[in-house]
Amino acid sequence: MLLCLALHIGAVWGGALFGPKPQRWDPVPQHLAPFQTGDVSKRRGGGHGPPLNIDLSVWGRGQTELQWYGDITVGMPPRKFKLIFDTGAGMMLIADKNCTTCGSHTRYDAALSSTYSPLPGWKTLVAFGSQGGGTSGSSELQSANCTVVTDAVGMAGRSVASEFLVCDGYSSGLRIQDPDGLFGMPSTPPGNWFLANGSAPEYKHIYWHLVETGQIPGPEFAFSLVSDRPGRAGVLTLGGTDRSQYVPATLRTIPLNWPLSESRARWVVDVRGARVVVGSGSTPALLTNSSDAVTLVDTGGSTIVTPDRNTTRELYGRMSDQIQPLDDFGSWGAPCDLLDRVARDVTFTLGSADRSVDVVVKKKYLNVGEFAGRPGICQGVYTDPERAAREPINGRPAWIFGSPLLRSYYTVWDGVDRTLGFATPAHRDLS
Ligand SMILES: *[C@@H]1O[C@H](CO)[C@@H](O)[C@H](O)[C@H]1NC(C)=O
Ligand SMILES: *[C@@H]1O[C@H](CO)[C@@H](O)[C@H](O)[C@H]1NC(C)=O
Ligand SMILES: *[C@@H]1O[C@H](CO)[C@@H](O)[C@H](O)[C@H]1NC(C)=O
Ligand SMILES: *[C@@H]1O[C@H](CO)[C@@H](O)[C@H](O)[C@H]1NC(C)=O
Repeated sequence: MLLCLALHIGAVWGGALFGPKPQRWDPVPQHLAPFQTGDVSKRRGGGHGPPLNIDLSVWGRGQTELQWYGDITVGMPPRKFKLIFDTGAGMMLIADKNCTTCGSHTRYDAALSSTYSPLPGWKTLVAFGSQGGGTSGSSELQSANCTVVTDAVGMAGRSVASEFLVCDGYSSGLRIQDPDGLFGMPSTPPGNWFLANGSAPEYKHIYWHLVETGQIPGPEFAFSLVSDRPGRAGVLTLGGTDRSQYVPATLRTIPLNWPLSESRARWVVDVRGARVVVGSGSTPALLTNSSDAVTLVDTGGSTIVTPDRNTTRELYGRMSDQIQPLDDFGSWGAPCDLLDRVARDVTFTLGSADRSVDVVVKKKYLNVGEFAGRPGICQGVYTDPERAAREPINGRPAWIFGSPLLRSYYTVWDGVDRTLGFATPAHRDLS
């Protein structure tokens, strides 16, 4: 957030691209008014037919699975790109043909597409914040130099002409990851490009564009991050849910915090409390009990970001005092065997007073693997990177819940009904 405002560069909030402990910047300056909601019936779309499935793959390093991604096509004839489906981001970002720092990623070649338009042609630097921690602590700013262009973009065989970012410079985090780029799935249809001159023109997000033009049967989408068969690490369903992927009777739906979700075009819910169960059968130790906190729910995030350092200390303190900061970038950890031994489930109560759900970050996801340069020391999943969600949202302490929570549930996202649903997956994870 600070970076975005200080340098007037484009920024994305989300795109958890960089190792087990990414960090993101808030792209929406506080002074921007909430977007107009527009005609909700239009947003619901005029599409028909069954929901569409996209198979997901997962990219990980070491024992940690980090990013779930799948195919998106660009141009005519369509060319396939492997993109992270990221509810913590708004835009789509891929590498340009002339990029010299984009590693071996699939490139976009405008000359090969009959549907390409160089318009609007704006240049923007997209900043993701520093990586920090993970397999190696780093304060390096992750970013990409990009141009906004227009071409046909397809998901699950449906396509629409859309604006997106094509980049001629990728920083190291983007370069080394398996997926070619990022496909944001925000809670509201419009997003903003942040340009060097300080302006922020609006654009229609691709997913919403497909909904509103009736090509996807509805606004709802759903993630399974469970490997239910070899070669498939999950399923993204567009325009509904896939009832073979969850136990329908277990679905619990909570309201989004709509003012915050809408003003940020992100998925924000209220956090009503957090509990750590210490010892078997004991009363859960209450970590917080207030309706003050909120969380971003982010499929592109590969950790759980706490609101502040005191919360992290208190949370780990319920497990062991030996879990301590590992670097200056918000990574915490302890000897690997100790971390595995003291790991505890952490239960969060999300939603409103009359519609809440308890969700659990399971203890088996506490240990995200050995920390680079520190043999025998493993990192914990709870992190507190500087200037991430530690910036309160509208004065409220903010968490970011990424895949370590989401992978234990079938999740259902609806930006028109303004809800988020959690259900028990139908399949045991084979991974
Ligand atoms: C790459 O191509 C784009 C589009 O033609 C152009 O705007 C950009 O300046 C080029 N970048 C480099 C490094 O040549
Ligand atoms: C973006 O462009 C600036 C200015 O040319 C350059 O200093 C920077 O290294 C570039 N960043 C990336 C990630 O390509
Ligand atoms: C949390 O606070 C609320 C309101 O102050 C109270 O009703 C509730 O019992 C508390 N929950 C726990 C587990 O202490
Ligand atoms: C964090 O904890 C320290 C030490 O207990 C305390 O002095 C400080 O006020 C706390 N900060 C917040 C924001 O609660």
